[in-house]
Parts: sequence; C-alpha cells; structure tokens
Amino acid sequence: MIKKVALVLIIAFNYCNISAQSNKKLALTPPMGWNSWNMFEGDITEEIVKGIADAFVSSGLKNAGYEYILIDDVWQGGRDNQNRMIPDPKKFPSGIKALADYVHSKDLKFGIYSDAAHYTCGGYTASYGFEKEDAKTFAEWGVDYLKYDYCHAPKEKAEAIKRYSAMSKALKKSGRDIVFAICEWGQREPWTWASAAGGNLWRTTWDSRDVWETKIYNGGHAGIMNILDKQVDLEKYARPGSWNDPDMLMVGLYGKGKSSSHGGGNGCTDTEYKSHFSLWCMLAAPLIVNLDVRDINESTKNILLNKEMIAIDQDKLGKQASRIIDCDDINVFLKQLSNNEWAICFLNRSKKTKSIDFNWNTFELNGKKIKVESKLKINKTYNLRDIWKHKTIGNTETNLKAKIESHDVLVLRLIK
Ligand code: GLA
Repeated sequence: MIKKVALVLIIAFNYCNISAQSNKKLALTPPMGWNSWNMFEGDITEEIVKGIADAFVSSGLKNAGYEYILIDDVWQGGRDNQNRMIPDPKKFPSGIKALADYVHSKDLKFGIYSDAAHYTCGGYTASYGFEKEDAKTFAEWGVDYLKYDYCHAPKEKAEAIKRYSAMSKALKKSGRDIVFAICEWGQREPWTWASAAGGNLWRTTWDSRDVWETKIYNGGHAGIMNILDKQVDLEKYARPGSWNDPDMLMVGLYGKGKSSSHGGGNGCTDTEYKSHFSLWCMLAAPLIVNLDVRDINESTKNILLNKEMIAIDQDKLGKQASRIIDCDDINVFLKQLSNNEWAICFLNRSKKTKSIDFNWNTFELNGKKIKVESKLKINKTYNLRDIWKHKTIGNTETNLKAKIESHDVLVLRLIK
C-alpha cells in the first residue's frame, strides 16, 4: 500500500512538472519569414515592421507560407528599474507588445533577437544572466521566435552549450511556444549539439553577403556559393524541428542592403537569385527573406512565390539534399521527398552555358562515371516535372539532355 501511494505521488509530481513546460514540437518544417538585419540594420522602426507585415499580405508572401516577421539587432533600449528589457523608445514608441499584436492581427508570427552575452553584436543590451527575466518578457510581448546570437561570449564549445541551454530552458518555462534559433556561425559544430541544447535551427556559417561567390570565406566575406559548399555533409543533422541554417536569403536585395553589401556584396542577377532560392529549398533551409518587401518587384515575386519550389523546401519528410555530383562546374543535389518522390537540382557554377546528358540508371553525367554517395533507386519510371517551367518535360526512361545557362539551375521533381 505504501508503495502504491508513493507511485501515485511520483506520477502526480511528474505531471505537474510537465504541465509547467511546453513540450509542443516547433518548426516541423523550416521556418519561413522576413528578418530586418541585412536591409535595415539599426534603422529599423515600428513603422517599417508594420509596413512589412502589410506587404506580406498584399504581395502574396503570406499566402505562399512566409509567416515570421523578425526584428534583428539594435532594437533595444536597455533595462527598466526592474531589470526588464525595454525597446528603443524612438524606434518603437508603441512598445514591442503593440507591434507583436499588430503582426498577429495579420495572422502572422513575430520574432525578436538577443545574444548569449552582456552585449549583442551591435553592442546593445543582451540576455546573459537574465535568461529567465527576458524569456518571460518576450513571452508577455507575444514573441514566437528568438534568434540568439553569440557575440562577446567565450569561445569554448562547452560554455556555448551551457548558455544556449539556459535560454532554451527559460523559453520552455515561459509558457509560450517560441522557436529558438541558435546563431554562433557554425564555429563550434553546432549541428552536433544545438538540437540537444534546445535549438530548432542553427546557423552553419558566417553571415552571407549579397554576392554569388567570394575569393575567400571568412566573417567578412561569404558568398552564396561559399556558403553552399559548407552545407555538404551536414544533411544527416537536418530533420523536422531541427534544421541547419545556411543564413538568410539575399533574393531581391540587388546590392541595396546594409550588412549584406559589406565585403563586396554588390548584388546578384535574377538568375543567381533563382539558383540561390532553389538551392536553399533543396537544403531544407529556413527561408528568411531580407529585402524591403514594401518595394518587391515582379522578378523577385516570381522567385519567392514559386509554390512548387517552396513545397520542396517544406516537404514533411524534412530531408536535406545531398550533393551527389561535383564535376566540371556542375553540381547535382538530390533530396528525398515524402510519398517516395525526389527532387533533383543541376547547378551550373561556371561562367559559360553547359550541356548535360544525364543517365538515370547509372547516374553518369556527360558519359563520365561518377562516384555517388547516395543514389536514387530507379525501380520504376518517374515523370520529370520542371519546377521553374511548371510542366512535365519527360521521364526517367531516357537520358536527360539539357542546356543550363551560367549560374542557373534545372530543378526537377520526380513524380510517379
Ligand atoms: C551577427 C549575426 C547577423 C546579425 C548581426 C546583428 O553578425 O550573424 O545575422 O544578427 O549579428 O548584429
């Protein structure tokens, strides 16, 4: 009898503990939205954020699945006399709660930024030592997503894990479901620990610049191709609720952004933006745009609103593509989709148009036998749906023959 009572008490105690925390699984598909940093840096205001939320609806981005409106660094105005974080009153005179309410009134979600040290990268008030207080404040404001940076924090991996776990625990106890985005730029192999530390996504690289490729890769210079190369072999870490984050989308910035234009980020062509978007979808990457959505042009809309491409990113299986071929400036990425379908992307990295002749059975490209790590098992015929032409262009019974322009992609969905 005594044993029975003890058991009931243990069960009741566990139940209380669990009910105080949210165990809901978040970010089951890669988050989609907008972030203020690359376009506006510290010039962000509540008027801009409201305008972006309105433009999400009028441009069709909301309908296409983009949902988070994220304020990055340089929103902070210090702490009040009870140590609660406050926003800069000039930029956000109505307060963050009112702004989050506005975003929510459009049926969108709201996110904010802090850092695991005393100061953020921009030198503003951050959350180290105030994790519980700040998580509570963010929850009271109606925050749905927190990007948590790592400037001014110690370099040791163990300390990073400790600091990220502390904020994740505080967020879980805040009573609100808040997606947790870890941002330590891939410096401590976060793919091996970030999910266990409570992260739903983790940056894998330095900040992307608005440029196709840079000669060197470091904190000041990282082109889209340089970042792409850093994703290879990380595919095994991506899954629903836990995503590699190769940084935000430069699509539509045309060299007009602030941070994204540092280090030679002078902009890309629409073809390059189309490839960048396609590759990020193949990688099951978060799709976070940076452009001023209030001023979006038709070419950018054609890229960002391609629902067939977005469906590949958002596929429920949550697989990140593998680079199966890297040969003569042609890269081939293969992504498994649900219902036994596949997506395949041919990327031409050279400065010239390239012809491809691809054998579906042997996976030979232009007659060359290629060592492929993972290979699609063709035990039946698939139809080939061209994701940018929106039509079927053949099937897997004959070789795929195509011309791909410089820096362009051919993306196919293999449909039964
Ligand atoms: C770091 C991050 C960027 C941005 C800035 C803000 O560089 O990697 O994405 O958040 O800080 O200061």
